[in-house]
Amino acid sequence: MAHSAAAGSGEWWRSGVIYQVYPRSFRDSGGDGMGDLKGITLGLAKLKELGVDAVWLSPFYRSPQKDAGYDVSDYRDVDPLFGTLADFDQMLEAAHQLGLRVMIDLVPNHSSDQHEWFRKALAAKPGSPERDYYHFKDGRGQDGELPPNNWVSMFGGPAWTRVEDGQWYCHLFDSSQPDLNWANTVVQEEFEDILRFWLDRGVDGFRVDQPHAMAKATGLPDHPYVEEAGAGFIEGREAPPMWFQDEVHEIFRRWRKILDSYPGDRAMCGEAYVLPLSEMAKWVRPDEFHQTFNFRFLDAGWELAPLKAAIDESFESFGAVGAPSTWVLNNHDVIRSVSRFGGDYGRTTASDGIGPENPQPDNELGLAKARAAALFMLALPGAAYVYQGEELGLPEHTTISPEHRQDPTFFRTGGKRVGRDGCRVPLPWIQGGESNGFSTGSPWLPQPDSYAELARASQEAKLDSTLNLYKKALALRAKLALGSGSFAWTATDGPLAFNNSGVQVIHNFLDTPLPLPAGDVLIRSTAGEGDIAPNETVWIR
Ligand code: NOJ
Repeated sequence: MAHSAAAGSGEWWRSGVIYQVYPRSFRDSGGDGMGDLKGITLGLAKLKELGVDAVWLSPFYRSPQKDAGYDVSDYRDVDPLFGTLADFDQMLEAAHQLGLRVMIDLVPNHSSDQHEWFRKALAAKPGSPERDYYHFKDGRGQDGELPPNNWVSMFGGPAWTRVEDGQWYCHLFDSSQPDLNWANTVVQEEFEDILRFWLDRGVDGFRVDQPHAMAKATGLPDHPYVEEAGAGFIEGREAPPMWFQDEVHEIFRRWRKILDSYPGDRAMCGEAYVLPLSEMAKWVRPDEFHQTFNFRFLDAGWELAPLKAAIDESFESFGAVGAPSTWVLNNHDVIRSVSRFGGDYGRTTASDGIGPENPQPDNELGLAKARAAALFMLALPGAAYVYQGEELGLPEHTTISPEHRQDPTFFRTGGKRVGRDGCRVPLPWIQGGESNGFSTGSPWLPQPDSYAELARASQEAKLDSTLNLYKKALALRAKLALGSGSFAWTATDGPLAFNNSGVQVIHNFLDTPLPLPAGDVLIRSTAGEGDIAPNETVWIR
């Protein structure tokens, strides 16, 4: 299949590389063991050096931190854990001076239960305008003692919690994250104002959390196949009443108009977990999101057939609406690619994490595959996401002890699903000390021993380090304009190979070496020479 991205259109988000900063684990400037905005400012130069175009910051808003900041109690302020609004402004200015764009994470599906809106709703009566900001309902059963419907939380357990006067409120995530009622126009207006608040400050765009959950089917009917799908959905079946309802698109059309009314090519990326991609593509029609995360690619694992199918589906579906595809191998919700590819953890359960009781990954094999996967991904036309620490080849922390756990998934499932803490561990900067330069204090989550020699400073000095592989790949990607290049498969039967703008990108999926074709080797994922080793990716021109 041939494909050509709109080259040189000046729309940076079509081909840019966006680096995800997870603020609590990026860098701590204050010594309390928690990353902060000043720490991000300090680290920006290294991201510029790495060669990314933009950063996306996970939430830093005021929050009780029940879900690591995805439980927002004030959308217009910075949590004291991370600093102040002035720190934010400084960070933004520093980023812009370096030529880096900054996207921030907007969490509109739910607020924190400590948000003023929810507190007012609790204090108000059933049926009041305050309660209508959220989904409050009477229960079922004789005394309303049963939840209003059969929905379950993404983090385990029921999606409903009962309040003192007997009503129930809906939360698709933790009980501390009540879902907002997006049919309420006041809620809609509040968020349009929040968008403007940050756009006025100069942000370059938003990553939007759970946009596909915002509109709910009228009356909140039962999930028709909850026994099979749990909190989720099954591809090809009808949309459950809490996921991807058609009404939601109107909201983003309005948001798009707001973004477009600002100068400077502001963009929004939706975390729309909608499959197949032909359905996801509806979210990136020209008047909605600029891009969405490509979960098909993320979930494909590192196997030839699903990977090839995911890439074909991506170009076909996004191409049909004139949108770029995005490519992503890691984020703060999934097992880090090094460990994911170093074991057999299934493709769709990646957010359950790996605990000490689970089979442990072969991180050496995983690293070889993760490096090769990154090199493969970074040659694909479209926008690419890199999650902090991915460029260091960090493995998942798989032996975190229960007392350090923070992810609500762990608590809501009684430890059955260990959750996502293992991919959220503070970054190692300089080898030595308790957190390898992340903080002068005790890090909020301990690092595994393996992080010491993966520290950024040590990798800078090693020619073959994963960090230098990413730097070189990103520099080549930019120089050869691969992000806005073309795409055509050249082999799909053992090697998986494609051509982008004259560059041959070959990954060896066989367990025997592949002869190296003629041409200049631009970069390869191992330190080898000659034949392409199993699990290796090479760029040749
Ligand atoms: C998706 C975010 O990426 C995840 O970290 C969070 O827990 C849920 N949305 C709920 O906000």
